[in-house]
Amino acid sequence: MSDIQWVYGLKPESITVEWRNRIRQLFLSETNEIYADSSLLSLGIPEWDGNLMLIDRDKYPEPSSLKGIFWCKPFMSESIRIVAFVIDKKFQSKGFGGSAWSTMQKSMKEKGVKYVQLEVRCSNTKAQEFYRRRGMEIISRIDMYYKNEHGYMMKGEL
Ligand SMILES: CC(C)(COP(=O)(O)OP(=O)(O)OC[C@H]1O[C@@H](n2cnc3c(N)ncnc32)[C@H](O)[C@@H]1OP(=O)(O)O)[C@@H](O)C(=O)NCCC(=O)NCCS
Repeated sequence: MSDIQWVYGLKPESITVEWRNRIRQLFLSETNEIYADSSLLSLGIPEWDGNLMLIDRDKYPEPSSLKGIFWCKPFMSESIRIVAFVIDKKFQSKGFGGSAWSTMQKSMKEKGVKYVQLEVRCSNTKAQEFYRRRGMEIISRIDMYYKNEHGYMMKGEL
């Protein structure tokens, strides 16, 4: 049995290139999105309750121990924006996404954050359902937000 748990993440610019490569590999395999290393470095993800990494403790500190990323950024005065949320396919639909969400929600509410928003592919109905069940709704469509596809902006109260 693996020992998988969410831990606080470092800023992308504070981790090694091998770990950033593992993050880019996760984005590619689970979302089909190609991120350059320089894009990760310029995302501006702080070290805070909105920066979580899902780790297989039996494999740590190998980069392959990374099984998921949950990255949020402060956005305007009372909101956060989810910039990346991805879990290795083998560990999806086991409650890990929901537990990252609950951890983030509790601590953001304590900080006075009121709203959360994000962008999601129009075709990604599984993720849209996940967010809908957490009180978010589609507020607009963003034409060609992704290289080959439209996106939805979703917003909700925390
Ligand atoms: C979207 C994503 C982050 C959600 O994370 P997840 O870990 O799969 O989500 P969860 O397992 O917590 O919840 C999904 C559903 O799985 C089921 N589930 C939850 N716990 C479970 C368990 N212990 N056993 C079996 N099924 C379970 C539930 O039906 C749950 O629905 P809920 O929303 O009512 O809780 C993840 O599926 C993912 O990485 N997808 C690919 C990348 C992606 O689309 N990212 C979003 C981009 S905007």
